[in-house]
Amino acid sequence: MCGIVGYIGREEAAPILLDGLKRLEYRGYDSAGMAVYDPEEGLTVAKAKGRLSVLSELTEGGKTVRGTMGVGHTRWATHGVPSDVNSHPQVSQSGRIAVVHNGIIENYMALKEFLVANGVDFVSETDTEVVAQLIEYFYEGDLLQAVGRVLHRIEGAYALGILCADEPDKVVAVRKDSPLILGYGQDCAYLASDVTAVIRYTREVSYMEDGEIAVLTRGGVRVYNALMQPVVKEHHTVDWDIDAAEKGGYEHFMFKEIMEQPDALRKTISPRIRDGEIVLEGLSLSPEQIRDIRNIHIIACGSSYHVGMVGKYNLEKLLRIPVEVTVASEFRYMDPIVDGRTLAIVISQSGETLDTMAALREARSLGAHILSIVNVVGSSIARESEDVLYTWAGPEIAVATTKAYSTQLVVLDMLGLYFARVLGTVTREEHDRVIGELLTLPDKVARVLTQTEQIQYYASQYFNHDSVFFIGRNLDYAMGLEGSLKLKEISYIHSEAYASGELKHGTISLIEDGTLVVALGTYGPLFEKAMSNILEVKSRGADVLGLTTEDHREQMAQVVDGVITVPETHPMLLPSLSVVPLQLFAYYVALQRGCDIDKPRNLAKSVTVE
Ligand code: AGP
Repeated sequence: MCGIVGYIGREEAAPILLDGLKRLEYRGYDSAGMAVYDPEEGLTVAKAKGRLSVLSELTEGGKTVRGTMGVGHTRWATHGVPSDVNSHPQVSQSGRIAVVHNGIIENYMALKEFLVANGVDFVSETDTEVVAQLIEYFYEGDLLQAVGRVLHRIEGAYALGILCADEPDKVVAVRKDSPLILGYGQDCAYLASDVTAVIRYTREVSYMEDGEIAVLTRGGVRVYNALMQPVVKEHHTVDWDIDAAEKGGYEHFMFKEIMEQPDALRKTISPRIRDGEIVLEGLSLSPEQIRDIRNIHIIACGSSYHVGMVGKYNLEKLLRIPVEVTVASEFRYMDPIVDGRTLAIVISQSGETLDTMAALREARSLGAHILSIVNVVGSSIARESEDVLYTWAGPEIAVATTKAYSTQLVVLDMLGLYFARVLGTVTREEHDRVIGELLTLPDKVARVLTQTEQIQYYASQYFNHDSVFFIGRNLDYAMGLEGSLKLKEISYIHSEAYASGELKHGTISLIEDGTLVVALGTYGPLFEKAMSNILEVKSRGADVLGLTTEDHREQMAQVVDGVITVPETHPMLLPSLSVVPLQLFAYYVALQRGCDIDKPRNLAKSVTVE
């Protein structure tokens, strides 16, 4: 979604803003812009529909926009089509106030009517212009005060970066339900919606809280709460470096991140296994509290939701506690059965997904204990959870998640195993077997990654299909959901995942000569049933690409058109292996089709609107 970068210091701002925006490109956007202030030239705004390269050309790499303070923005259109005029910054009628905004101002229509009635002319269709105009309307020589008055009137979610030509020594920032971080440097300060934008310049950051207002100057940053009382912010040091957020010789971030999975898994698993036991720092639940849990709700969106689907099978089997998995955008409106004995497991890579955050708050208000599994340290979901288990996958840039998904899976597995020990629902022998397999998982994933050529070959055979079905049972069904999402989001091929047993209840009518079916049959106890389903679709003309374990290769190869294998492991860990070929298949199909793999159309990395 939209991205914000701000800078005030002694350097030329525009190149810094462009560089920061470049690093936010992965979030998804359709236009870009910036406003820079210079004492001689005043407030200059440059903005354009399209890629950042258009803005860069327009400003000759920032050279034509002079000044040492400014704000920049990449816009993902919500109110008003992508166009030059709807791009941010939005500027007040006099041209003295410039605003960049992430989020949505929900009551913008009423505010617009009020301003129009008071003689204000609007030029864009955006909700953001209302903020710029309203600040000017209330401005009486004190930007902070005017912003404070505006905040009492606007409703919705917002992160704002604001410049005022009459107060050329400050950038003002505001946050509510949309992330913003502050960065500290020597005689300078930064503002960004995501650490990635400023990591090249500083590693010292603070995370703004909802309702806070920050005033950035060359001499430092002051932060106030909603009552305008000063707040002392904790400073954090970002512990990953710029290389982690760069392609490092790979053609795409997605491929790089797929290949990083063995390492990401090792970093996530190894520190949590000590002397054969799972150790979960970040978990505050006592054994008594764990024994008191009556039901578990897993709440998430997209791929994180699919992790929850795997979790349901594994946790219910391990714990004998009912587990419900709900898409976050549904959870908050469905009157869920939650009370003080409910554990809500909230899963999110970004930690900023608005639907997930809203569901978290709903679960909390109903009394649930909130435990989140999050990748981005210090993100909103992490900060609002009672317990956080981080996936140490490092920054994930490609819109299609891969290494974050894989690390979320193992964190949920380790949580399940830990609970099972406390509850006494797993034997020592079984527990130790899973621990042993967890420790070898990174190497087994590395083994799967050696099959890239073969998977690329299959992709070249099937990339021009219009429609693909992923079928499987139990954990293989949960994996099919993720395989299908991966394929459709980056290759734009229509695909659906079905529990194999459901095919005959309707979907099988869609199978005809040449339909591609990806059949997952890794789950040993149901392998024979998976084979029967393959025969059902084969006899109706489908091309079948099978995925199974090494031990079942031969048997499956007899009936399918192509087969990919994963090593044997404990059944509950099979999804960690089988997801890898599915990611690679989606990647190579998208590559064949010439798609923009890291930035698929209409999608954003971090979905911060409802
Ligand atoms: C997956 O490839 C996605 N692009 C998307 O479904 C993602 O998993 C979803 O938006 C949830 O994001 P989160 O994990 O950051 O909350």
